[in-house]
Amino acid sequence: MHMKLASLILAAVAGFCPAMRGAESIQPGEVWLDNRGQPIQAHGGGILRLGEVYYWFGEDRSPNNERGRRYVSCYASTNLAQWTFRNQVVKLADPEQLGPGWVFERPKVFYNAATKKFVMYAHLDDRRYKLARVAVLTCDTVAGDYHYLKSFRPLDHESRDIGQFVDDDGTAYLIFEDRPNGFHIAKLSADYLNVESEVCLIAEHMEGGAIVHYHGLYYVLGSALTGWNPNPNKYATAKSLSGPWSEFKDLAPPELKTYGSQSTLLLKVVGSKTDTVIFMGDIWKPRAQWDSRYLWMPLAISDGQMHLPKPREWTLDMQTGEAKIQK
Ligand code: GAL
Repeated sequence: MHMKLASLILAAVAGFCPAMRGAESIQPGEVWLDNRGQPIQAHGGGILRLGEVYYWFGEDRSPNNERGRRYVSCYASTNLAQWTFRNQVVKLADPEQLGPGWVFERPKVFYNAATKKFVMYAHLDDRRYKLARVAVLTCDTVAGDYHYLKSFRPLDHESRDIGQFVDDDGTAYLIFEDRPNGFHIAKLSADYLNVESEVCLIAEHMEGGAIVHYHGLYYVLGSALTGWNPNPNKYATAKSLSGPWSEFKDLAPPELKTYGSQSTLLLKVVGSKTDTVIFMGDIWKPRAQWDSRYLWMPLAISDGQMHLPKPREWTLDMQTGEAKIQK
């Protein structure tokens, strides 16, 4: 049968057949296929929203990637469940003579409306994680080929895991883990090509940093420093990004180690009835990185408390913002 006709019939059937509705649901921990039927490669990822379209960028760990290069893939979606592969936007050869095993992790893309450039930050390192810098890459289109610009230590501090946060007023921040000092929240320069000023240093040793602004309160989230192994991720709250921050509390029962995952982003979806904040985490498989999974779940948030429910299949109504977790 003609491929296009086959997929039209399949789409029509999926609309009527309850067993196939799964396509529009999110299934934490399961293999997540893109429009080509291939497992999504966007580990340690970030999200950029442009209008109705969400772009998911992350580490592409496909087994057939060239060994000396590092890859980032980009996918697009309007419902956050079904993702269309757009491009392997980074296929980078060792940019700073870092040697075998060099590291390019946790890519995050920001769009700068003034310069009309897409700016990617990532953690750049040697195999022993001693360089501890960010790399900056740019592109004129969201899913084009990103070009390597430079690397540096933000505000002259060590920087390993990075996170991104864009506040409701459009201000862009980089979150970075600095081993000697803690967790930095820093403002990007007007063109986003530099890290300009410190907003807050949280003197905690945490990584996988993420922030969301929800109903007048900022929530910062991170994991402990246990490499690829999961640990109990924790959050704190503050009325202002500069603090003071509350004490850190467990996001889920600590013995469950965040259900085997590690935070990478908090994504807020604003709907007509409610706002849903999604915990985006990675379930790492260090010995088979390409098969690392994703744990995305809507968070339960009220009165300054944030809770990650037990992972189950769920759906999100993009219009109303309501999330429905299956019983
Ligand atoms: C984790 C970090 C990952 C990766 C890994 C390497 O702590 O979150 O992004 O760097 O360590 O061991």
